[in-house]
Amino acid sequence: MKRYYISTFGCQMNVHDSEKMAGILKLEGYEKTDNVKDADFVIFNTCSIRQKAEQKFFSELGRIKKLKKRRPDLTIVVAGCIAQQEGNNIVERASHVDYVLGPQNINALRDIVNLTANHVFLDDNPYITEIELPADRNDNVRAWVNIMYGCDNFCSYCIVPYTRGREKSRASQNIINEIKVLADKGYKEVTLLGQNVNSYKSDMDFPGLLKEINEIKGIKRIRFVTSHPKDLSDELIFAIRDLDKVCEHIHLPLQSGSTKILTLMNRKYTYGDYLKKIEKLRKEIPDIAITSDIIAGFPQETVEDHKDTVRALKEIEFDGIFAFKFSPRPGTKASLMSGHLSDDIKSERLSEILELQNKITEKKNKELKDILQEVLIEGHNEKNPSKFTGRTRTNKVVNISATDDIKTGDIVNVKIICTRRHSLEGEIV
Ligand code: 5AD
Ligand code: SF4
Repeated sequence: MKRYYISTFGCQMNVHDSEKMAGILKLEGYEKTDNVKDADFVIFNTCSIRQKAEQKFFSELGRIKKLKKRRPDLTIVVAGCIAQQEGNNIVERASHVDYVLGPQNINALRDIVNLTANHVFLDDNPYITEIELPADRNDNVRAWVNIMYGCDNFCSYCIVPYTRGREKSRASQNIINEIKVLADKGYKEVTLLGQNVNSYKSDMDFPGLLKEINEIKGIKRIRFVTSHPKDLSDELIFAIRDLDKVCEHIHLPLQSGSTKILTLMNRKYTYGDYLKKIEKLRKEIPDIAITSDIIAGFPQETVEDHKDTVRALKEIEFDGIFAFKFSPRPGTKASLMSGHLSDDIKSERLSEILELQNKITEKKNKELKDILQEVLIEGHNEKNPSKFTGRTRTNKVVNISATDDIKTGDIVNVKIICTRRHSLEGEIV
């Protein structure tokens, strides 16, 4: 039997695209291997959001050159955002690459496997929302479901609108059918995926879609990523509040606490607008967990602007953040702006942001001590198999001593007995 190996970089969208590519290969009779040396077919599903992710891929690609020399029949595919951005350059730079496949063209993998294809697939794909690909999923309890593709926002730092194209929403009925099948297979949780789920639009809007999914028997939890603050409507806030399966967690990237920088970023909201949304979310859904993304050291960011971000973190107290140094991406507006900062300044600001947030996250977790939480059991803890691991509705990881009467996929009530920065310890009640 032929074997495939997939190396995935980047966001949840890529993780799920890899599941779909795995699904195609499975149908074509391939078996998965975790060891690249055993593979006949290798896919790199790449990410170009920051330079670091890009470098990681190119060094992996360099390492596989030797293997290809020894085994010329090995097929190497570069997929994902670097594939879209670099196109033919990849084949020119690395002649051991056989195929280049943009994120809108992963369905072309079927042709590649049957060796009837060209080398480079980068076209805009208007049918992406209609193509149903059979995902071979990594998890049996929680599933990713695309609801839309692409992004129209053109935040000035971001490469995504160039690599994933314009926003396109899937028909609601196709999404609902996919989730019904997942429910029949025993899945308990779905995470709806889109670059900006709040602008989902088909025969219904995003709150309408949530309402429909909330009715699907067997599904116990609904999550979604990512939300753009400018599109977070009152209707969505009410849907999170009122729909029992929609979890009390929102990932709402702030990016900066300085309105001047937000304008340069083309985010289309002020810090004041953002704060009002946070206040509304917390008023309507008091226990909601809010997480965010922050970029440190955007061009022209002064000490004052940075202090505004620090102040914002203290004022809002997110449950957690992902923070990154600004990374200029070729072709984006921000890469061409004046006033780029040195790596040292970016690193210094990032450290300050992360240190502060660590304290806030720890403090927020401490507040959960002795509190009851509903936990969906995801499986055994990898490092300590005598424990189960799961998540609260607010997306916090909880470890629980395993007992015979609980199993993966169960929803249990636990009391939080110990809190750490990145996880909680719970006891079944
Ligand atoms: N540099 C640094 N961070 C970036 N992000 C997107 N583009 C860049 C960039 N050029 C971050 C944003 C976004 C998250 C997914 O990645 O914070 O919300
Ligand atoms: Fe990038 Fe902005 Fe679109 Fe998010 S909303 S993918 S940050 S352009």
